[in-house]
Amino acid sequence: MSDFVIVAEHLSKVFEPGILRKKVTAVTDVSFEVRHREIFGFLGPNGAGKTTTLKMLMGLIFPSSGQAKIFDRPVSDVAAKRRIGFLPENPYFYDYLSGMELLDFMGRLFGLDRHERKKRAYKLLDRVGLGCAGDRALRKYSKGMLQRIGIAQALINDPELVVLDEPMSGLDPIGRREIRDLIFDLRKDGKTVFFSTHILSDVELLCDRVAMVVGGRLRDAGPLDQLLSPRLLHTEVVIDIDGEKKILHLSPAEDVNQKLAEVLASKQRIVSVTPRRESLEDLFVREVKSGDVGGGAEHHLGDPK
Ligand SMILES: Nc1ncnc2c1ncn2[C@@H]1O[C@H](COP(=O)(O)OP(=O)(O)OP(=O)(O)O)[C@@H](O)[C@H]1O
Ligand SMILES: [Mg+2]
Repeated sequence: MSDFVIVAEHLSKVFEPGILRKKVTAVTDVSFEVRHREIFGFLGPNGAGKTTTLKMLMGLIFPSSGQAKIFDRPVSDVAAKRRIGFLPENPYFYDYLSGMELLDFMGRLFGLDRHERKKRAYKLLDRVGLGCAGDRALRKYSKGMLQRIGIAQALINDPELVVLDEPMSGLDPIGRREIRDLIFDLRKDGKTVFFSTHILSDVELLCDRVAMVVGGRLRDAGPLDQLLSPRLLHTEVVIDIDGEKKILHLSPAEDVNQKLAEVLASKQRIVSVTPRRESLEDLFVREVKSGDVGGGAEHHLGDPK
């Protein structure tokens, strides 16, 4: 068994909508690996190619070139699929079903018996905070409730690998926290979680490793602390002058000690001194600024790629 749950090798996707329509290059040469029992964040701005990559990994669309393996098997492998739970970006469920009926239906697809289906459905409804809404029809669910039932259905087969496309979308801060806790619990249970997002705080709080895509290309991949530049950006000094606060930004070239001595000599009070290093937000903005913002490079048929 290899160390990796997901291996993406040079994945590319060009959408070709037909004669005389523009081709769209959504993903170009994306390679990364996801290890067992890690929480892996797939990060990128809108239109970066996250959903397209996830669909290729789930075998829902074919790559134009490159390949992917899950559990050492090609993504089309049925036995491997049974070990995966997937939340699509905009899940559509037959909305006359109740939440409970949807979970029961999904359980049937995986061949679970009646008793097991019921047991798992109750547990999952509770786990995603829908304990009281299991009997309500999905068309009466709010956006956040639909997102929660989407996550519950992804877990009905007790999958070893959970793939979530924007799991926090549509959730309020409490809902986001609950889903974050659930993702941590999944890892505690020995699962591997791969999720896409553009919400930086979720990545910072959750992920062991991340990959960042911009304009369909992989920009960075690795542990978050290795991606962030340890370089000092500036030192922030807050001083108090007669009850009024003022913030000084000292560049790395400036002598912080000397500046502080000057401040003290002039009878001003120092409130705080904070060295500022690169945050995930700084990295994200840096990468997006240097890339094709919006992604999906468009070109006409016959244009050189
Ligand atoms: N079926 C399709 N036909 C043509 N172009 C497509 C198709 N699906 C996606 N694209 C294009 O591919 C690019 C990447 O889209 P994708 O949905 O993968 O981005 P994303 O990173 O998931 O964005 P978001 O954060 O908004 O969900 C976009 O330019 C999009 O318009
Ligand atoms: Mg998407």
